[in-house]
Amino acid sequence: MQVRMLDAAGARAHAPQLRALLQDAVAHGASVGFVMPLAQAVVDAYWGDVTEAVAGGSRILLAAWRDHVLVGTVQLDLCMKPNGGNRAEVQKLLVHSGARRGGAATALMAAAEMQALALRRGLLFLDTEAGSDAEALYARLGYTRVGELPEYCATPNGAWRATAIWYKTLFVRERKEARQV
Ligand SMILES: CC(C)(COP(=O)(O)OP(=O)(O)OC[C@H]1O[C@@H](n2cnc3c(N)ncnc32)[C@H](O)[C@@H]1OP(=O)(O)O)[C@@H](O)C(=O)NCCC(=O)NCCS
Repeated sequence: MQVRMLDAAGARAHAPQLRALLQDAVAHGASVGFVMPLAQAVVDAYWGDVTEAVAGGSRILLAAWRDHVLVGTVQLDLCMKPNGGNRAEVQKLLVHSGARRGGAATALMAAAEMQALALRRGLLFLDTEAGSDAEALYARLGYTRVGELPEYCATPNGAWRATAIWYKTLFVRERKEARQV
C-alpha cells in the first residue's frame, strides 16, 4: 500500500478515480453527503470544490494505491478560523468496495495523522453514521466517541440516521492566551 498527497494538479489528473470512489461508496450505501440517484455532474462538482480547496491550502487530499490502482482516499479540512489552528476535520475516508479490509483506510489515516502533525494540528475530529462499519475502524485507531446527533443525515436511500462524533488528540496544546497561539 502506498499513500501519497495529491496537489491540485494531482487531483485533476486522478479525477476519474476519485469520482469512481465516491460513486462506489454511495452505491454501497455509505452516508457521505450524497443521495441516490447520484448524477456524475454532482460528483464532479464536489471534487472540483475539493480541488479548489487543495489549491487554496485549506484541504489536504491523500490517496492510497495498491498495485498501481488508486483504492482509497481521505481528506483533512484545515480550520482556517483565527482561533481554529489546532484542529482539522477528517472527511471522505473512502476505500473502494473491492479493496476493503486490506488496511487501506488504516494507511490513509496514519498518513493523515502525519500530515496533521506536520501542520501542528493537534485535534482531529470527524462524524460518521452511527452504527456503521467505520465506527469499528475509528475505535481501533484510537479515536474517542463523543456521542450522537439524532437524524443528522440521510442514507443514500433517504433513511434518516444518527451521526456519531469522534475525535483524536495527537498532541496537547499549552493553555496560553489565544493571542500567543
Ligand atoms: C470504513 C472504510 C473506510 C474501512 O476501510 P478499509 O480499508 O476496509 O479499513 P481497514 O482495512 O484499514 O480496516 C482496519 C480495521 O478497521 C475495522 N473495520 C474496517 N472495516 C470494518 C467492517 N466493515 N466491519 C467491522 N470492522 C471493520 C477492523 O478492525 C479492521 O481490521 P481487520 O480487517 O484486521 O479486522 C470502508 O469500509 C469504506 O470506505 N466504507 C464506505 C465509506 C465510509 O463509510 N467511510 C467513512 C465515512 S466517515
